[in-house]
Amino acid sequence: MKPLLALNWKLQKGPAEAFSWCRTLLEQLPDELPADVAVMAAAVSLDRVGNALRGSGVQWGAQDVSKHAKGAFTGETAAGWLNELDCTYVVIGHSERREYHFETDAIAGEKTAVAIRAGVKPILCVGEKLDVREAGNAESYTLTQLETALSWLTPEVLNTEFKGSLEWLTIAYEPIWAIGTGKTATPDDAENMGNAMRYWFVQRYGETANNLRLLYGGSVKPDNIKALCSRSNVDGALVGGASLELDSVVKMLEALK
Ligand code: PGA
Repeated sequence: MKPLLALNWKLQKGPAEAFSWCRTLLEQLPDELPADVAVMAAAVSLDRVGNALRGSGVQWGAQDVSKHAKGAFTGETAAGWLNELDCTYVVIGHSERREYHFETDAIAGEKTAVAIRAGVKPILCVGEKLDVREAGNAESYTLTQLETALSWLTPEVLNTEFKGSLEWLTIAYEPIWAIGTGKTATPDDAENMGNAMRYWFVQRYGETANNLRLLYGGSVKPDNIKALCSRSNVDGALVGGASLELDSVVKMLEALK
């Protein structure tokens, strides 16, 4: 499977800048992309991002979604509206949502199910804090996060859009101690967690679990992306800081060739 390079812009680019950035990106991209590329923009920028990228092969998506499909929930964004804006993906359960908005694994699970029902592919984020890793519990902690969140993927949800396949699901392993800190997990760390997650999925869902993408995220940049993404069960990257400059995105794609 082709790697996925998902650009997590966070609260960094509004509609006007997002539009012109995407247009310039298209001018600089090679004809043959070595990876699927997706821009994860702020909800208010998605319409313009879509206008800039539609037809180009570069995809786009949101950074969060409501767990509710519709109703009296002021300030929320419905998964159905993301679909209406042709979003391919939505990031769910990012550690910044967990830390600043008190999102739990259960909420991430509900959002995952809502996104799938609306036809938007979730990129579900998991990963441990430093104390958990230092205590040797990174794997069990992360797999428990998956276990709790994915208990929302009932057979009914799986059968709607998944149609028996897990291609719809992407998991981003983002150790919290590596996000925005400049401290990257080693390729061994990323691969070990990727292997553990893949094993967990295959045990649970069978061979179809070989089709889901497992990303690594946390201080990924042009000079480390190749070492990380050449490992087994690291099928791409969710990139924050290094996704903001065009030059660094182009360099990351070159590194993935
Ligand atoms: P970073 O962020 O690349 O700046 O560490 C990654 C993320 O938060 O998804």
